[in-house]
This record gives sequence, structure tokens and C-alpha cells, in this order.
Amino acid sequence: MSKKHDFWNKQPVPQNKVIFKQDGEIDHSRELKHDENKLPDGYKWSSCNLTELCEFLKYNYIQDDTFEYSYSKDLLEWAIHPPWYRDEWNIAIRKSDTNEIVAFMSGIPLDIRVNDKTMRMLQINFLCVSKQLRDSKFTPMLINEEKRRMNLQNIWQAAYTVTKFLPTPVAKITYFHRLIHTDKLNELGFCEVNKHSHHVNGETRFREMQEYDIPRVKKMLQNHFNKFKLSLNINEEYIKHWIMPRKGTIYSYISKEEDKFLTFYSLDYVMKPNNKIIKQANAFYNVGNCLQDAIILARDLGFDMYNCSNISVDEEELKKHGFVEGTGNNHYYLWNWKINQEIKPKDIGFVMI
Ligand SMILES: CC(C)(COP(=O)(O)OP(=O)(O)OC[C@H]1O[C@@H](n2cnc3c(N)ncnc32)[C@H](O)[C@@H]1OP(=O)(O)O)[C@@H](O)C(=O)NCCC(=O)NCCS
Repeated sequence: MSKKHDFWNKQPVPQNKVIFKQDGEIDHSRELKHDENKLPDGYKWSSCNLTELCEFLKYNYIQDDTFEYSYSKDLLEWAIHPPWYRDEWNIAIRKSDTNEIVAFMSGIPLDIRVNDKTMRMLQINFLCVSKQLRDSKFTPMLINEEKRRMNLQNIWQAAYTVTKFLPTPVAKITYFHRLIHTDKLNELGFCEVNKHSHHVNGETRFREMQEYDIPRVKKMLQNHFNKFKLSLNINEEYIKHWIMPRKGTIYSYISKEEDKFLTFYSLDYVMKPNNKIIKQANAFYNVGNCLQDAIILARDLGFDMYNCSNISVDEEELKKHGFVEGTGNNHYYLWNWKINQEIKPKDIGFVMI
């Protein structure tokens, strides 16, 4: 018998199995709720600017006593403020008296394709509840309100990743790491490896992507997306916002000779005891066989390691390029959509940041 979930067991998500005879919606109702859901006394619905969000996440997002991820304002702007974002979908809950943020969740509309069906969905991210108010059920409140607001704009499906196992993931993914500056990583106690076996050799013949590359990159990336079961339909606006290089945030390079293109984003990993930063490059997309170029570019740009998950790739390919399997896992979920065939990590084309 699987674990009992007071909230998730009542939601339109697969409960006891993942593969169904037919794909499709779980809840077909089209009931709209025009009034905001009620919050406990002393709290109010709100939104927040990126400076406030950055501060809130710094103290409350994924971390423990030894490390935290440093989500800069630029990174948040890139991740959740495409020109078409709607403030009402980036939901904050505040204390009514002090205005302090106590919970947050973002929602970005994307055209997500599951097998042969493309649907406008909300990609949910940056769910976070203040450390002082955990276990107070703010998460279900945020989710119910996000659902109500997306339904008002005729959106009935969502996609999200959660490290925890909830009812019920489409796929479980694993993270892999290509260590680059092993001297520094060893010294900081991040790992203990022989530096010679992780040395990155070679030069790259990729150049930085320019604005005039947008149509070509759009075509390459869409062709790449078309190969996967869970993927995206994109347009040039997507490329302009999420792929065009932004110094310190998103790095995109294109092959000088072939139809190959790669892009990764920067996310600093802070080691709390000594406040040292490990510069991490995280794979966004690799189109064509260009993992080696991505690692070389990450090295040349001063990153200490290059990370990716096993989505879109064969694990054998990762091992061939010197990646080591990490201890981290994540799960991909769909809200109000059931699938009729297995989706493995390598069938997923779309990275949720
Ligand atoms: C994740 C987090 C928001 C959960 O908050 P919480 O105070 O522990 O949980 P709440 O009391 O608000 O809600 C409990 C419900 O939310 C569910 N839940 C917990 N984490 C969840 C998540 N990441 N996504 C969706 N639902 C989640 C629980 O399973 C529970 O539902 P159930 O009774 O049906 O099982 C909070 O721990 C947090 O901010 N952590 C740091 C940031 C983080 O890890 N964010 C998630 C990234 S995937």
C-alpha cells in the first residue's frame, strides 16, 4: 500500500499506476472559481518583485547546514520572467501585518507535448515555504490557488519536478557531474578524486551565439525537441528569452561547421561553512553530439564542474565523457494528464530548471 497523502490523493494525478490504456485528462470538468481561495487569518495573497524573491529564496530554498544554491536576481529574471509571464501566476503569500513573504510558487506557460498531443501547460517552479512555517499546509494552498488562476486562463494541465516521490511521477531522473577543477573541488572537500583522471583536454570550434542565429537555433532546437516523447513546441520568442546568451546566467554556443548547438546555465553552489563558491554549469540543451565541447567551454569559462541529468541522453554516453553519477534524483510530474506508454528519462527532451 503506498503512503497516504492528505492532499495529493485527492488531486487529478495518477494515484497507483503510471501507464493507462488511454492517454488523456484525468479531470474533464471545466468549473471556474472566480473568487480567491481563503487563507488563514493574518495572511494575504500577493506577488513579489525579484529582489524580494531572491532574498526569500536565499534563506528558505533548497539548502542544509553545509550548502545552499545561490539563485541570483539575473537567474530568476531568466527563469521566470519571459516577456509573456503573468504576475498573477508567480504567487506569493504574505503576512498581512508586516508584509513579510512566507511562501512562493512560480508558474510559466509553455507549450508542452506529451507524445502526439501539445497542450499549453503551466510549468511550476520555485515552490518555497518559510522555514518557520513548514508543515502548515501552505503548499496545498499555493497549488489550489495556482490551479484556480490557470483555469481562469483556460489552462488545465501543469508540469513540475519534485525531488520527493509523490503520486505519481512520469519518470525518475538521475544527475551526473563532470568534474573540471578537481584541485579546487578536492581542496574544498567537495570530493576526493585523482585529478589526472578528470583532466579536460582539447579546444572547441564553437562560437558564441549571436542574435542573427535565432532562426537557425530555433529550427535546430525544435528538430531536437521533436525526437522526444515529453517535449516542447517553441517559437523564436522562446529562443530570444531562454537561449540568447546573458552574461553570468545563460551561455549558448553554436558550431562553426555543423548544425550543432549547446547551451548551459550558471548556478553557484555555496559551501556554507567557509562561504566558498563552486561554479556549476548546468546543461540546458545539447543539440548534436557536443557534450565534449560543452565541457571544454565550461572549463574555458572558469566553471568548476558541468552537471546534467540523464534526460535526453544515454547514460553510456555520459560515462564515456567522464561523468560520474551523483547521489541526486528528481521526478518529472504532469498534473491532470495520464499517459499510455512509458516515458524514460532519455525520452524527455525538456529541461525544467
Ligand atoms: C517543499 C516545501 C515547500 C514543502 O513545505 P512544507 O511546509 O513541508 O509542506 P506543507 O505543510 O506546506 O504541505 C504538505 C503537503 O505538500 C506536499 N509537498 C511537499 N513538498 C512538495 C513539493 N515540492 N511539491 C509538491 N507538493 C509537495 C506534501 O507531500 C504534503 O502533501 P500530502 O499530505 O498530500 O503528502 C518546503 O519544505 C520548502 O520550502 N523546502 C525548501 C525548498 C524546496 O525544497 N522546494 C521544492 C523544490 S522541489
